Amino acid sequence: MKNMINITFGSKALLDIPKQLRINEYSSVFILVDANTKKNCFSRFINQTRLDNPKIIFMRAGEENKNIQTCEELWNQLSELGADRNSVLINLGGGVVTDLGGFVACTFKRGIDFYNIPTTLLAMVDASVGGKTGIDLGSLKNQIGIIREPKLVIIDSQWLETLPKKELRSGFAEMLKHGLISDPSYWYELINIKKLDAITLAKYIKSSVAIKEKIVLKDPTEKNLRKILNFGHTMGHAIESYFIADNDKERLLHGEAIVVGMILESFLSVHCCNFPEKDAIDVKESLSHYYPHVKISKIDREGILSLLRHDKKNNGSGINFVLLENIGKPRIDVNVKQELFYKAFDFYDTV
Ligand SMILES: NC(=O)c1ccc[n+]([C@@H]2O[C@H](COP(=O)([O-])OP(=O)(O)OC[C@H]3O[C@@H](n4cnc5c(N)ncnc54)[C@H](O)[C@@H]3O)[C@@H](O)[C@H]2O)c1
Ligand SMILES: [Zn+2]
Repeated sequence: MKNMINITFGSKALLDIPKQLRINEYSSVFILVDANTKKNCFSRFINQTRLDNPKIIFMRAGEENKNIQTCEELWNQLSELGADRNSVLINLGGGVVTDLGGFVACTFKRGIDFYNIPTTLLAMVDASVGGKTGIDLGSLKNQIGIIREPKLVIIDSQWLETLPKKELRSGFAEMLKHGLISDPSYWYELINIKKLDAITLAKYIKSSVAIKEKIVLKDPTEKNLRKILNFGHTMGHAIESYFIADNDKERLLHGEAIVVGMILESFLSVHCCNFPEKDAIDVKESLSHYYPHVKISKIDREGILSLLRHDKKNNGSGINFVLLENIGKPRIDVNVKQELFYKAFDFYDTV
């Protein structure tokens, strides 16, 4: 794998797209949008880039559509619109569009180039960087996928103007994770932000991207170090999947689920890595300041834990986690006995 990530920032980089496309001599240009990025971002994107004759392909919005059926629809759309091996796909959207669009591009005719234009905070600071593409398999998150760098990522905070507040907050969760796994001063800076608005959060995008980029460059295929980006995600993914599968439950966004995961895993860190208890309480209180408590009943716990056992990090007796020894100092491959999980949920529930 190439050890290079091609990331550029700001609106000016968008203006450069036609030149980039010309240099690569693509036969045709496809743009993938979902309903929300079609409405909020597409015409602005076309006005700014002045792209000549792009073809638009479309998917339904939301994590519940990040599946093989949507891929099939998109492969068909590409095929019907005459895409060939020299076509390029521009993913204009959040993490669902960049993850799934990247996977569709990597698999169509054994792989065509793709560009990521992330339009959510979460995709800007996390999903569009690092080359992980993929889809969910039933209720198991990101089980199918390929690691391949996009040809280009253009991160421009202009798209955040139309992003709902809840989605901004969801992306902020990944930024907090970046602080917790690699930089205490970044963590403390972030938890002192009073108001989570687009203008304030945009100032921190580059710092988060730099943290992620540094980790990914050292370990692109997640043999060891890159695993630290999964802090909060072992529990978090199980919670996210569980809430998606239950139609009676209110939607829980990716970042919201990861926040619960980070609190649970901070508790596990105390018991398995000597993470100071006062820091675990501090993590819980700081996160609770931005994110309302999620009600997880006893029945929910069982459902979540059963999904967890299917998670890719399960190795027989216990389950492997990324935990914290200190803020900014993670430890990978920590095997945790399942009895502790219940206590972690109790910790989450105590105010
Ligand atoms: N590949 C990776 O390394 C990686 C890392 C973190 C997360 N992820 C994945 O990212 C996904 C979550 O990403 P997300 O939160 O961006 O989800 P998303 O793509 O579903 O976007 C969230 C919502 O915002 C809408 N939207 C997007 N841009 C908008 C805009 N500018 N204005 C208004 N609405 C807009 C979308 O249509 C959607 O309804 C998950 O599937 C997660 O697994 C991947
Ligand atoms: Zn995540």
